[in-house]
Parts: sequence; C-alpha cells; structure tokens
Amino acid sequence: MGDVANAVNETRQWRRLMQWAELGAIPGDGVNRPALSALDRQARRMLIAWAGEIGASVSIDAAANLWLRREGSDPAAAPVLTGSHMDTQPAGGRFDGAYGVMAGLEVLTALHDAGVVTRRAIEVVAWTNEEGSRFAPGCTGSMSWAGFRPADSWNDVRDQDGVSYGAALAEQLAAEADLPRRALGSRPFACIEAHIEQGPLLEAEGRDIGVVTGIQGSRWFTVTLQGQSAHAGTAPLRLRQDAVQDMVRAISALNALTADPQDVLRFTVGRINVSPNSSNSVAERVVFTIDLRHPDRDVLLERGDAMEAILRDAVKTCQVSVVENFHAMPAQFDAGIIATVQAAATALGISSSQMPSGAFHDAQFVAPIAPTGMIFVPSRSGISHNPAEFTSAAQLAQGTRVLAQALVALAG
Ligand code: GLV
Ligand code: MN
Ligand code: MN
Repeated sequence: MGDVANAVNETRQWRRLMQWAELGAIPGDGVNRPALSALDRQARRMLIAWAGEIGASVSIDAAANLWLRREGSDPAAAPVLTGSHMDTQPAGGRFDGAYGVMAGLEVLTALHDAGVVTRRAIEVVAWTNEEGSRFAPGCTGSMSWAGFRPADSWNDVRDQDGVSYGAALAEQLAAEADLPRRALGSRPFACIEAHIEQGPLLEAEGRDIGVVTGIQGSRWFTVTLQGQSAHAGTAPLRLRQDAVQDMVRAISALNALTADPQDVLRFTVGRINVSPNSSNSVAERVVFTIDLRHPDRDVLLERGDAMEAILRDAVKTCQVSVVENFHAMPAQFDAGIIATVQAAATALGISSSQMPSGAFHDAQFVAPIAPTGMIFVPSRSGISHNPAEFTSAAQLAQGTRVLAQALVALAG
C-alpha cells in the first residue's frame, strides 16, 4: 500500500496545479475561474488529457459533473470516490477545490506508475459549481447527483451578466457532448475529499493533516428591499423610501440576533447590489445575501428561522422579500472513514489532528449516500477565498499521500 503513497509525485502535482492556475489568473497569484465558463472547460480538457495518459475513462452526468475512473479488478464492486471542484471564487486562490481534484488525479497516476490494480475502481469527480459565486447556491453538482434536488432546480438562477444556470449548463453539456454520459446518483462504496483547510488551526498546531470529523451547517438567504428612488438633494428624508438605510437597519438587527460571545455562529453579508447605484440618487432597491453557519442543527434552524421576522421589524419604509436558497444541515462523517484516514496518516508517519470543517464542501452531500470523510492540508495564515491562499507543494503532497493510502485501503 505504501508503494502507491511513495509514487505520489510532489513536483508533477504542483506543476499541474500551476498550469490550471493560469486559467483565470488574477493579480496576486489568484484565480477567477467561474463555474460553467469557457475557462472551466479549458481546465477540464486539461484534466481529461491527463486522465487519458494513464488510461482512465472519462464521463459526465446531467449536472456536468466530470468523472474519471480507473478500473479495478472487480468491475461489479462499487467504486471508491474522491474529488472536489474546479470553480473558484471571483477573487479566489489556486488551491480551493482544484487541490482535491488534482490530488485524486495524482492518486490515479501514482497507482498507474506503481502498477497497482485495486479490487474496486477508484473514481475522481470534479463537481459542478461548488462555490455558488457565479450561480447561487453552491454545491449544485453534488446536490443534483445525490438527489437532494433535481438537476434543473436552478435553471432560472442568473449570474451578474444575466446568463441563466440552465443556459450555462446546456452550453457546457453541448461543449462536452463527445464524452460518454453517465447517470446521476450512482452509489460509491466510500468517499474521501481532499481539500485545503481554509482556516488557521493546522498551521498553529504544526500538523500536516486534518482528519475531518464533520462539516458545520450553512443556510443562505437573499433579501430584497424595495423602496423608491428620489433626488438626493431635494427629497426630504421623512418622505424617502431609502433601501440602503433600511438595509443598514436590517443588518444591524441581524447582527444583534446572531451575536455569539463564543464566536461559533457565523453571520456574513458578502454581496450587496444597490440600484440605481448612483451617489446622488436615493437607493430604490437593495438585494443582499446572508450566509449563516453553525455546527449545531438546532441553533442554525432557530436563528435562521428567526431572521425574517427580525428583519421585517427593523425595516422602516421598504417592502421586504426573503428567500432561502441554500440549506445544508451539519454533517457528521463516518467513523470508519475517519479511522481509515487517521490510520493512513499514522502508517505514513504524517502528523495529524482531528477537526471539523467550517467551510461547506460537496462531501456534505455525499455523506447521506455513502460513508464519507475528508482530508485537510494546512492553509498559510488560514487565508482562503483570497488570491493569497497558499499551501506548499510539500504540504499538498503529504495530503495526497494520505489520500492514496486511505483510498487503496478502501479499494482493496
Ligand atoms: C465554500 O466555498 C464555502 O463557502 O464554505
Ligand atoms: Mn472548496
Ligand atoms: Mn470555496
């Protein structure tokens, strides 16, 4: 088993990741590679070519999730699954998501180089639209695959340029019509997703690997405040329906609702669209997003459900609409997979720490379907969703070695 971990090639993995990072490169070593974009398709073509070099088969499903498969000696046995996503935040880094797909490819390549055939097939998936920054919400590919929602559920969601998810998905499927189609919802034997930590704990503890125990829950809401535009110089304040002023009231009230002395409950307003967005016009309309997270299901349900009433109460003049567009309850990973990942790190002499994930991941939607876990590698200064996101080639390779060891243990 150690042969496969030994065959993991740090330089090859890094070089390929840096090739991907050129697709959508932005200043400061960042990447902007939106889901279902031409850049996304270029990155996928590279992946398909690398898979071809080692004889792995490639297919896509109706949600445009891209699948690589290295056959096992028992084709009837359920496969072991790994992978992550290739889309990025608009000002994202080189590693969030891309690392997990590349680590999967590197394991397949290491198996090929070591001449090892596992009993179960190993599959690597690149999930569609994990980030949710071009099309909200995130994890639409894994949610479709897992049957959490039908694949056409988000067809009417539009990006900032007015392009619909349905149209972008159709374009992607047409551009990749040369690839064999596979059905949504196959059931793997087990799944492990590798990812950067995106937080500061592993670095602070001086550990190489996070053995992930679960993922906190997330809820996303879109709030629309409809007022009336007016002249900034002439309209008396008492007559205004100012959507920005109501937004300030709403966010202040939500800050009070979500205040947590322990700093466990996470409340974020990360996108605000103001119309007409002119310095001398009173804002007619504000649309803002809410991202709410907590590891405890009850807290997430209770605070999330309380938000609409608090918000309506706080707003003075505008009409209010609140829509929940993402609802991912906390996931507890499988004890057997946690033990497998832990044993892999221990066998390789790689230091580790067990920890929950504050970020959501596609693994959250695989967990109800199959025994699932995750492997984290350290993030420098805990920075992520930022061009400065960084993990060294050596740290990434350690994560891939643990992934290789664990996948081979599961695949037999
Ligand atoms: C994933 O990108 C997240 O926001 O947790
Ligand atoms: Mn990610
Ligand atoms: Mn992310």
